[in-house]
Order: sequence, then structure tokens, then C-alpha cells
Amino acid sequence: MSKIIGINGSPRVGFNTEVLVKKILEGAEKAGATTKLFNVDRMDIKPCRGCMACRKDGICSIKDDMTEVLAEIKNSNAMVLGSPVYMLQMTAQAKTFVDRLFPLIRGDFTSVLDPGTKAALVFTQGQPDTTAFSSYFEHTENMFKHFGFDVQKTFVAGGTGKKGDVEKQEELMDKAAMLGEELTN
Ligand SMILES: Cc1cc2nc3c(=O)[nH]c(=O)nc-3n(C[C@H](O)[C@H](O)[C@H](O)COP(=O)(O)O)c2cc1C
Repeated sequence: MSKIIGINGSPRVGFNTEVLVKKILEGAEKAGATTKLFNVDRMDIKPCRGCMACRKDGICSIKDDMTEVLAEIKNSNAMVLGSPVYMLQMTAQAKTFVDRLFPLIRGDFTSVLDPGTKAALVFTQGQPDTTAFSSYFEHTENMFKHFGFDVQKTFVAGGTGKKGDVEKQEELMDKAAMLGEELTN
């Protein structure tokens, strides 16, 4: 059975980013997958300290909630990372999470992930023009490929400043559910 992990990098739980990530997970569940969502803002996830312990034995020296998340990611078929755009980038919460993914790559830059582990990225932004930050989104896709993920899709929802804005974008919501199904295959 497929397992899909969702990460919400917005501190606004219940707002646009979480709604979109949840929609993808719902699509995956309908296709038979089990899912788990982590709201990283509400968790104890400390910034990487660069101690390089994970270069030696693959294990992070910081014992916090990231221990569980890393184990879940290694045992899953796909990960969905959602973040609002803050100052043209992902949120600090999302970036803190991303830095802590360092144990997923070995010292020789090979990945510990099972080949074919999928990823999808979800960005929400106040700016209605969804191409405005495309170079950053492409860079982020490349970063996840470097970690060993098979990046399937980057979803961008523009004009999502207020709670409920993303639900009004029905076509995007439908595509999100479809992506969830695709991630289970
Ligand atoms: C500190 C901060 C910085 C932001 N920077 C940008 C930005 O650079 N570009 C943009 O389009 N929207 C920006 N926004 C708006 C958010 O990206 C947008 O409201 C997003 O949909 C919020 O996601 P949420 O509803 O899941 O919290 C910013 C919002 C905050 C609070």
C-alpha cells in the first residue's frame, strides 16, 4: 500500500497551503494510499547545526520531532511539501524542515531514499501571477531532485492572501486531488 507524507510549511494552519496539501492527500487516500500530514510550525523542529554527524552514520544528532518525520519520509512512496511564498521564497519553517533533510543524502551525495520516491511541491502566494516566482520554484524542484526525489509536479496557487481563497480555485483543487491519485501509482 502506498504511503504519502504531507508537510505544511505555513504557520496559518487551516489556510490556503494546508487546504491544498490536504486536497492532494485526500486524492491519494481515495486511490487507496495511507497519508500523514505534519504541520511543521506546530512541531519542535530545530534548525540544522551543521555538526555533520549525519555524514558519518546517516543519523541526525538533534533529537526532536524531525526524527519521526525523517523516518516517515524514508518509509513513504511520496512527499508533498507545501509552503506559502514569503519574501519570494519558502517560509522559514519550511526551510528549517528542508535543511533537516540533510541525512537523506550520504557524504558521496547519493540518496538514501528508495529509487522512485516521488515528491510534489505546493506554493501559495499573494501575487496573482503564478509565473512571478518560477525561477525560484524551478530551483526548489532541482533541490529535491538532488535529494533523490522524483519530482512530479509543482503546484502554484496565486492570489491566496485570505482564508478560503484557494477553495475558490476549483480547477486547481480538482487538479490537486488528481495529483494525489497519481502520486499513489
Ligand atoms: C511575511 C510574508 C511575506 C510574504 N511574501 C510574499 C511574497 O514575496 N510574494 C507573494 O506573492 N506573497 C507573499 N506573501 C503572501 C503569502 O504568500 C500568501 O498570503 C499565502 O497564500 C499564505 O499562505 P497561507 O494562506 O497558507 O498561510 C507574504 C506573506 C507574509 C506573511
